[in-house]
Amino acid sequence: MRLEIGDWTISNLQSPINFLSITATAPGKVILFGEHAVVYGQPAIAIPVSQVRARATVVAGPQMGVRLVAPDLGVEKLLFEEDRDDALATAVYLVKAATNLTHLPDMTITVSSDIPIASGLGSGAAIAAAAIRAVTQFVGYGHLLSNEWVSAMTYEVEKIHHGTPSGIDNTVVTYEQPVYFVRQQPYNRIETFSVAKPLTLLVADTGVRSSTREVVGDVRRQWEADPARFETLFAACGRIAVAARQAIEQGATAQLGKLMQENQAVLQEMTVSSPELERLVAAALAAGAVGAKLSGAGRGGNMIALLADGEDEGGKTAVSQALIAAGAKNVLTTVLQ
Ligand code: PMV
Repeated sequence: MRLEIGDWTISNLQSPINFLSITATAPGKVILFGEHAVVYGQPAIAIPVSQVRARATVVAGPQMGVRLVAPDLGVEKLLFEEDRDDALATAVYLVKAATNLTHLPDMTITVSSDIPIASGLGSGAAIAAAAIRAVTQFVGYGHLLSNEWVSAMTYEVEKIHHGTPSGIDNTVVTYEQPVYFVRQQPYNRIETFSVAKPLTLLVADTGVRSSTREVVGDVRRQWEADPARFETLFAACGRIAVAARQAIEQGATAQLGKLMQENQAVLQEMTVSSPELERLVAAALAAGAVGAKLSGAGRGGNMIALLADGEDEGGKTAVSQALIAAGAKNVLTTVLQ
């Protein structure tokens, strides 16, 4: 639509919301059980980490085209439809395609996030989900914004980060609920589950950045070289995830801790642990955690430690301090309830 007033031409006045600023957010996430095996159709469990979030704000103009500003990363650039390798450009132009708009209004998208990047906390998926929500609302198609739709769009963006994503990251950061997830055709199995007793988890960052795409690619190469061995490892992760869901539903915290140890042992066999992760896992267990394992792609990033039932602040502080002493760069607490 064009509005001509005397000498002035205001173009791109597609919607009154062009004069507004639209902000959307999405949380971080941790995988509790089943990373890697989930890519091969085994069940996995993941939960949102709501206290760390990605944010996207969209305002009209001021330049022609779509501009991305990411102050934390020192990035300021125009996003073009041809930028197929750029996650944010892909997110924005997926919205254009899904809404059948012939062109997008001029806009500036500012993104920020307190989710550490490349550390298994789902920062890429969360930034994409927030941007997809904000841009879709901004162009006047907010009615499309079901969780299912945002998750499917975010999955397309995840392919740029991950190559062959299972779909668990986009699901958890979009629905912002704990999920039991199985990658399958034609539709993934996505189930919520009950939590009998609150579970307190510490999430500790090794400070080592790791590329999910590379680690997932390396697991794939190992699987191709020795399919029988890797199928056995993946199936073991699947059984552990099924048992873990039952333990969560029954409030069997000590059993859940043991299952974390078992899952960590299988992840070691897959060669996705690292000396830094092992140090943090050992320190958490020595300080009283009932279970600890890496979370996400591994070879860096974050690990999780489960506290015993009824652990007081003192117990939590002891595990947290042990993690810091063992090299953790940051420790977050999240409660599954
Ligand atoms: O993004 P990360 O580091 O949480 O890793 C994703 C988990 C994997 O299972 C390793 C890959 C996937 O797509 O599920």
